[in-house]
Amino acid sequence: MEHTFDLDAYEVRFGHLHTTLSPWFAHCEPTAVLVVTDDNTHELCYPLLREALGLADDQPVAEIQAGERAKNLTTAEALWQTMFDLKLDRRSLVVNLGGGMLGDLAGFCASTFKRGVPFIHIPTTLLAATDAAIGGKNGVNFNGVKNTLGTFRDPAAVFVDPAFFRTLPARELRSGFAEVVKHALIGDPALWQLLLGIDDLTAADWYALTPPSIAVKVRIVREDPLEKDLRRLLNFGHTVGHAIESYGLGTFDVLTHGEAVAIGIIAESYLAWGDSERTQAIANRIVRFFGRHPVHKTAFEMLWSTMQQDKKNEGGVVRVAVPGDAPYTLRMLEPTREQVEESLVFYNRLPQE
Ligand SMILES: NC(=O)c1ccc[n+]([C@@H]2O[C@H](COP(=O)([O-])OP(=O)(O)OC[C@H]3O[C@@H](n4cnc5c(N)ncnc54)[C@H](O)[C@@H]3O)[C@@H](O)[C@H]2O)c1
Ligand SMILES: [Zn+2]
Repeated sequence: MEHTFDLDAYEVRFGHLHTTLSPWFAHCEPTAVLVVTDDNTHELCYPLLREALGLADDQPVAEIQAGERAKNLTTAEALWQTMFDLKLDRRSLVVNLGGGMLGDLAGFCASTFKRGVPFIHIPTTLLAATDAAIGGKNGVNFNGVKNTLGTFRDPAAVFVDPAFFRTLPARELRSGFAEVVKHALIGDPALWQLLLGIDDLTAADWYALTPPSIAVKVRIVREDPLEKDLRRLLNFGHTVGHAIESYGLGTFDVLTHGEAVAIGIIAESYLAWGDSERTQAIANRIVRFFGRHPVHKTAFEMLWSTMQQDKKNEGGVVRVAVPGDAPYTLRMLEPTREQVEESLVFYNRLPQE
């Protein structure tokens, strides 16, 4: 059941916190410990952590506001203030207990406070466990633009325990599932076969499904830590997905990141493989879990212009990263606007589950 993933500078330890985190923590003897939570993880996740580590009643716990809107400098400043008041130093430990938003923000604060206080991630969402907590990227949004301010700084370690997923709202679980699907499609055909057998996400065996998904992210980050080449494969589904996600922000139909990426994976599969059996199989699986959120024609123009601004692109050419023929190979496409629109029309015409 336990797995250790080695990233050279640090490890991702998978399994019950009692057997992974507790012995690690007993050895590290920091000068001070600050646990960072949000409103939800304080209530739902902190009791488990506290029990696993035998933390005292007066253990300092910072609580930030949950949700992407609080991923900003105002929240960061309050957290820096707490670090300052507690006199954290470079031998202290910051424990990030939460989803990707909390990990990004608290990792950013820890990595900049006194030029870097060691921190660990204890991801409590499926998305953070399989994606956000791995890879050393930290940051906050600025002027409404995602992750504008940030650092590349590795955590001291990451501890993943799916026990936390039990309290996760179904929609959050599904959002993280899009990244699991992505990992299967870019690197692990056996994981894809496992995903074909799932009927209900809340009843799925996350102790079995999470490690192979982590393994894909770990392997890609190890091979390309600074995002020069292979790591672009992690953007599969995200060029179209991000555009849909940002478009959704301006409308009533607000999609989660994963819901938008799920549409993006279908559209980009169509760009890569056309209306083939492979694309159909991917589309069927995704629609089964995510339903369909038709992308209205009036949005096409906005989506295209958002895609042109994506940081992978130069000179207005849209570049889309899709899997090559073998696992862990990358193919870059440069679709035209007509092709992208055709892929969205393909998505819109899929039968509802
Ligand atoms: N650093 C990276 O490489 C990277 C990669 C992908 C995404 N991200 C970032 O991750 C963020 C999204 O992360 P997310 O999807 O985890 O969202 P999130 O962190 O906003 O968490 C989603 C919601 O679930 C709640 N929650 C968390 N754990 C819970 C639990 N166990 N039970 C009940 N509720 C719980 C949170 O309080 C929040 O309301 C974005 O800010 C994105 O930019 C970063
Ligand atoms: Zn993503």
